[in-house]
Amino acid sequence: MRIVLVGPPGAGKGTQATRLAEKLRIPHISTGDLFRANISQQTELGKLAKSYMDAGNLVPDEVTIAMAKDRMEQPDAEGGFLLDGFPRNVSQAEALDELLTTEDIELDAVLDLEAPEDEVVKRIAGRRICRKDSSHVFHVTYSPSKQEGVCDVCGGELYQRDDDSEETVRTRLEVYHTQTEPIIDYYKAQGLVVTIAATGPVDEVTGRALEALKRDK
Ligand code: AP5
Ligand code: ZN
Repeated sequence: MRIVLVGPPGAGKGTQATRLAEKLRIPHISTGDLFRANISQQTELGKLAKSYMDAGNLVPDEVTIAMAKDRMEQPDAEGGFLLDGFPRNVSQAEALDELLTTEDIELDAVLDLEAPEDEVVKRIAGRRICRKDSSHVFHVTYSPSKQEGVCDVCGGELYQRDDDSEETVRTRLEVYHTQTEPIIDYYKAQGLVVTIAATGPVDEVTGRALEALKRDK
């Protein structure tokens, strides 16, 4: 399957993508994670991306599209993929369509995760991520690690993302409404959008997502 995951910051895209990718046996491709890996490896791309990310703004399309395209062309993505955080504006969606057309493939669904703003703000404020593996995500109240600051899965150090400050989150939400939400209409016009509520326990949201994707088939 080829799926795009869309939703505001903190809706649970990363959390759900990890689970869905495992169940559907497709790679989870997160442009946010790819940028963070570049930042920790101190690459030129990482240095460029960091200034935009810290401010809560989108990294320029040119470098983002090139990075996403490169990842989608890796052999493990041949049979399908789950895109998390890409596309994030209409020009990225158009670039993705172009790439898919060239490869003679199509998206199966765009899964839209809906969550109220006060909830996503709480989720982001309490989020903690593992330094060793960004798919190990915790929340100080909703899913705390057994030992504070230590990852349950691998023992890595847990940290708070630089862009999870209250001020930056406000910008990220605004950017979501103005730049990313329009892609939902873009994909509605292609009949691809499946919307689910992203509230309630994590497993319930995963179940809802799998059901919705099945129904859509
Ligand atoms: P990115 O990394 O994509 O961040 P985001 O879209 O802001 O989303 P988040 O990672 O904040 O949230 P999420 O929805 O994944 O939630 P999570 O599962 O972690 O992008 C970061 C930046 O990179 C952008 O601002 C931009 O600068 C740049 N960028 C990335 N892609 C780009 C692109 N295509 N173009 C340009 N720039 C780009 O969950 C959040 C918390 O809630 C966790 O603690 C989790 O444990 C908890 N939680 C999850 N589900 C539940 C639940 N059901 N109940 C209770 N708690 C829950
Ligand atoms: Zn870990």
